[in-house]
Amino acid sequence: MAIQTVATTPIPGQRPGTSGLRKKVAVFRQQHYLENFVQSVFDTLGDLAGKTLVLGGDGRFHNRAAVHTILRMAAANNVARVLVGRGGLLSTPAVSCVIRKHEALGGIILSASHNPGGPDGDFGIKYNIANGGPAPEGVTDAIYQRTTTIGQYRISDDPDIDIDRIGRGYMEQMQIEVIDPVEDYAGMMEELFDFGAIRALFAGGFRMCFDAMSAISGPYAQAILEGRLGAPAGTVINAVPLEDFGGHHPDPNPVNAAQLIELMAGPDAPDFGAASDGDADRNMIVGRDFAVTPSDSLAILAANAQVAPGYRGGIAGIARSMPTSRAADRVAEALGVKLYETPTGWKYFGNLLDAGLITLCGEESYGTGSNHIREKDGVWAVLFWLNLLAATGKGVQEIVTEHWARFGRNYYSRHDYEAIDAHAAQVLMDDLRVKLSNLAGQELNNYTVDFADDFSYTDPVDASQSAQQGIRIVMTDGSRIVYRLSGTGTEGATLRIYLERYEADPSQHNIPTQQALAALIAIADSVASIAYNTGRSNPTVIT
Ligand code: G1P
Ligand code: ZN
Repeated sequence: MAIQTVATTPIPGQRPGTSGLRKKVAVFRQQHYLENFVQSVFDTLGDLAGKTLVLGGDGRFHNRAAVHTILRMAAANNVARVLVGRGGLLSTPAVSCVIRKHEALGGIILSASHNPGGPDGDFGIKYNIANGGPAPEGVTDAIYQRTTTIGQYRISDDPDIDIDRIGRGYMEQMQIEVIDPVEDYAGMMEELFDFGAIRALFAGGFRMCFDAMSAISGPYAQAILEGRLGAPAGTVINAVPLEDFGGHHPDPNPVNAAQLIELMAGPDAPDFGAASDGDADRNMIVGRDFAVTPSDSLAILAANAQVAPGYRGGIAGIARSMPTSRAADRVAEALGVKLYETPTGWKYFGNLLDAGLITLCGEESYGTGSNHIREKDGVWAVLFWLNLLAATGKGVQEIVTEHWARFGRNYYSRHDYEAIDAHAAQVLMDDLRVKLSNLAGQELNNYTVDFADDFSYTDPVDASQSAQQGIRIVMTDGSRIVYRLSGTGTEGATLRIYLERYEADPSQHNIPTQQALAALIAIADSVASIAYNTGRSNPTVIT
């Protein structure tokens, strides 16, 4: 069998966004599209002799074909060994776990996360480095630069190997090891959490519903919850990963996980509900008729971390993305640890975790995680909550309201305007930037603007800088409005508006969220002239 060198030309637009390269499946199926990007990754990595890579994806449409192409290219590029999940499947957190455990050079994840799948849906590819986390900007920029000059790629014409059976095989000189996608990950969870206490909880009749949204968290949740923890069969719903996620949007928020929200509001609601996204790195936590905001979830896990064996030693620090609510800031203060505010995107947590500056981190976009791996982790967050429920004997709502009573409540919401005209979105952001300097001191709807700026970040570990990471208007009482354009969308532009208001008084903790934020919502609208600029009078999704 032979290694082919195939001539190609650069394909425009292969710049990775917030989380890897994401495009419509039809784009990825264009001739040379995947190959150009993968070869650019390999060229950026340099000499691959003797190196191990991890490969897997969330099982969406095109996953299997892409796995075979990448294996043939890896073999042609001198990679020594590839660990691939059975069936080409690995959740994003599992890839991170396997890279670390097996000391691989890095890994390739095939996923478009929470974006819809299927032939008309989205596909994505992302490279993770040796720490198990998404490649930092320096690496993704180098990959992108390579895509703009690429002239050829290398691929083996060896026959495809059977990826549906655990075991070892060879392609050219490269060893391919097909691994159980769940094993390493489940073992790690067992070390972090008190499985005995959670098992006892289920044995006592505690009921939960985990909505895997027909995505990759299904096999993990089933093996861990129903397998190792003894939860009754059927605890995990929509457990079988489907190539098109059953036509649904695999994004765990109250809008997209409507089936779970309805169940949790019903007369026979289980004690605890949870959902995860397409690649199993996001999580949503729900009590009986009560959804927990991701920002609160991060704060609550941080405040109670000692219930879990893996965190008994205390936490070194907490990080949150800038638009995430400041609920965690108050916990950090109470614990006497530092709080880091980073740009949106998990990659910014990597250095802080590697340097041991933080133990827990999270984003408002249903992402929570810790130093156990270098990705956010949906099933981990659910297990952490289970551990907390088991240790305290309290319900979800009770835990949250007690937390608010102690720390105050950060009312929080995100309004998304999806698929708006990309040019109009740019104009809106540019106009806002012009307005920024005049906002401080202005009275708006009974709020006074303390300061307004375009968030920029200097990484405390390597001093790398990231500018234009979101426009924020901060009021004198700490309330905030943040505007950002999404870096993961594949259609037009998505404008995200994040709204936050702090309320210390427990008698004011039961106002419906949109009502509590109404004055800020009105300010956000008028300052950015949203209706005028986008032609939309209402957001597409409110979470
Ligand atoms: C979105 C979320 C962000 C998350 C990313 C990947 O990015 O907002 O917090 O890290 O997905 O899951 P965005 O589309 O806003 O750029
Ligand atoms: Zn995801």
